[in-house]
Amino acid sequence: MTTAASTAIATKDLRKSYGKQVALAGLDLEVPTGVVYGFLGPNGAGKTTTMRLLTGLIRPNSGTITMLGQKFDRTRGDILHDVGALIESPSFYPHLSARDNLIVFGATGRHVPRARVEELLEMVGLQDRASDRVSRYSLGMRQRLGIALAMLNDPKLLLLDEPANGLDPAGIVALRDTLKRLAADGKTVFVSSHILPEVQQMADIVGIVASGKLVTQGPLDQLLASQALVRVRIEPEQTPEAMQILTRLAGDGHVEVTYPDIAWIVARVAVNRAAEVNKALAQAGIFASGLEAGSDLETLFMQLTAPPPPTQAPARPGAVSGWNSGVAS
Ligand SMILES: Nc1ncnc2c1ncn2[C@@H]1O[C@H](COP(=O)(O)OP(=O)(O)O)[C@@H](O)[C@H]1O
Ligand SMILES: [Mg+2]
Repeated sequence: MTTAASTAIATKDLRKSYGKQVALAGLDLEVPTGVVYGFLGPNGAGKTTTMRLLTGLIRPNSGTITMLGQKFDRTRGDILHDVGALIESPSFYPHLSARDNLIVFGATGRHVPRARVEELLEMVGLQDRASDRVSRYSLGMRQRLGIALAMLNDPKLLLLDEPANGLDPAGIVALRDTLKRLAADGKTVFVSSHILPEVQQMADIVGIVASGKLVTQGPLDQLLASQALVRVRIEPEQTPEAMQILTRLAGDGHVEVTYPDIAWIVARVAVNRAAEVNKALAQAGIFASGLEAGSDLETLFMQLTAPPPPTQAPARPGAVSGWNSGVAS
């Protein structure tokens, strides 16, 4: 996915600090074209900073951004004609109606046909209230109008920073349907959230960010599948026998030794079979000194984004941190 046509956004080692506060510590994003990409992370992770960098509101300290096949820098602001964005709370003319706000904003850029305004009002479910002053709008209604505004110029790439904020459950479902429809039409939607179930409902691809770095990124179904794992730690010399037992239990699932020196073995076995794994090993005289079962994306998210514990053993990628652990035998 490195060709221009298939990648809507690529960032490389993107860094941004506000004074001493590091907001992005080397972000490498790869957002394929034509998907809803969920950019997930807890508050303060760097999501809004990323959105602001992608729209040129602020400049990175270092690193590169490629959008829609072109390097985005000082000289290439024209890329933004094809980008629509909703970042933080949008500001509108409060005394104007929703419809008039869209018309006014539409007048400042490329020509927006009047029919497009009506189409957008309907798309975000504001058609019945389109003549009301925005000052009378609820937070959720303003958010919908903000989404309509971001889509005004029919952008190829839509950047939405926490668009579900203030929406009720029905609004979130409607938003999801709208975003999926846009992606089905070949648009790319980059949408941030700090609420996992929200992203899980909307996104095809998920990138999890914490402390200004991407922790994991990939198709949602793959991330979820990667959770159906049981991991055991045994004595290295017992590896071959343990591999046999686990392979039998895993059926057509995958079994591998992730850290041969300490014999952590990962088996693709349903998480609720962890006890069975433990028992089978024990019956063969293999007593695991560690046994962990990966659970749902929620747990993965919580643990991936948790602040690192005070310095202990050096972290190994993909090692124990993201897992429920319990010691066997
Ligand atoms: N204008 C600013 N001045 C100083 N620090 C900021 C500013 N904006 C954001 N930060 C800090 O940068 C980090 C990332 O913030 P932000 O990008 O807003 O995260 P998110 O949108 O994921 O909640 C946080 O630690 C935040 O406090
Ligand atoms: Mg934010």
